Amino acid sequence: MSDTKTKEPSRRDFIYVATAAAGAVTTAAAVWPLIDQMNPSADVQALSSIEVDVADVEPGSQITVKWLGKPVFIRRRTQDEIDEARSVDIASLPDPLSFNENKPDTDASDVNRTLDEDGEWLVMVGVCTHLGCVPLAEAGDYNGWFCPCHGSHYDTAGRIRKGPAPKNLPVPTAKFVEDLIIKLG
Ligand code: FES
Repeated sequence: MSDTKTKEPSRRDFIYVATAAAGAVTTAAAVWPLIDQMNPSADVQALSSIEVDVADVEPGSQITVKWLGKPVFIRRRTQDEIDEARSVDIASLPDPLSFNENKPDTDASDVNRTLDEDGEWLVMVGVCTHLGCVPLAEAGDYNGWFCPCHGSHYDTAGRIRKGPAPKNLPVPTAKFVEDLIIKLG
């Protein structure tokens, strides 16, 4: 016999849900002001290039900035992520091209997709090359990015490895203009 009483959301449940929701809002609020800070005005947002301070980005984390209306992932990779990406045989990749605007017509080896030679910094447009969803970080079979819309798996270099997406995540025009300042565009 079921006890319907226990199925009713309790006040404690409500408080928990409300707290979790508030937590999510707080997290979002914590991220977007940071992005706003990097894009301080409508004027700057309209510019074709922006500069992003990445000094606070820890290894193994990323920030997402909005640039030209699209999310751009700036990830500071761990050595494990770098090693994993660099151990891949290019011939096994579904898309063997780097898709890097900074290095056109190069293959998709990890070194051709990263911003620095050591491979610590990876900058990519965060739009799935299938139908345009935003992939999730540190997810999927290759521990890179996973697009939940139709199941595309990208590796730690943002290269498509499995699923319907036809291309690697694009690497936009980007460079370091100062020690930890990245210019997009
Ligand atoms: S939009 Fe990403 S898998 Fe379809």
